[in-house]
Amino acid sequence: MPDCQDEKVLTVGCGNGFSACFLARKIGCNVVGIDIAELFIEEAKERARRQSVSERVEFRVADTYALPFEAGTFDAVITEFVSQFLDRGRTFKEFAPVLKTEGYMGINEMYKEERISPKAAEEIAHAEKVFGEIIELPFSLPTPEE
Ligand SMILES: C[S@@+](CC[C@H](N)C(=O)[O-])C[C@H]1O[C@@H](n2cnc3c(N)ncnc32)[C@H](O)[C@@H]1O
Repeated sequence: MPDCQDEKVLTVGCGNGFSACFLARKIGCNVVGIDIAELFIEEAKERARRQSVSERVEFRVADTYALPFEAGTFDAVITEFVSQFLDRGRTFKEFAPVLKTEGYMGINEMYKEERISPKAAEEIAHAEKVFGEIIELPFSLPTPEE
């Protein structure tokens, strides 16, 4: 097992819990997954039961803007495909307090390159609009600098 066995990891916007369960199963981390959508949290709990990792993974409904954890709780905080829905200026700052000193932040997010053709830019803008309407949340891709 790698060194991070038994480390405490928070996955923000965990969705159906795929990565949280993977980390618990493959690495042996203790994982907490939070998501604003109750339906996803129920799916995530079911996944954890199916994969027999419930003792290492806890899922709960929570908002990334009001993380319900004490300061310095986690060795790592991870997001995947979440920041597009959020205020990026604010979201990542919310993670720092719940991280231990020298804790890690793992950000696996889509972005759009700045130098693209007008046609590609138009298609991305359209996709952002349609996707935002489907999920009923503001949705935009950041540039690499953002
Ligand atoms: C595209 S999904 C990604 C889910 C998962 N990370 C994955 O990669 O499969 C975005 C997730 O962010 C969650 N989300 C959006 N706003 C949130 C917020 N304010 N706090 C917590 N989760 C949020 C959504 O409910 C959704 O599950």
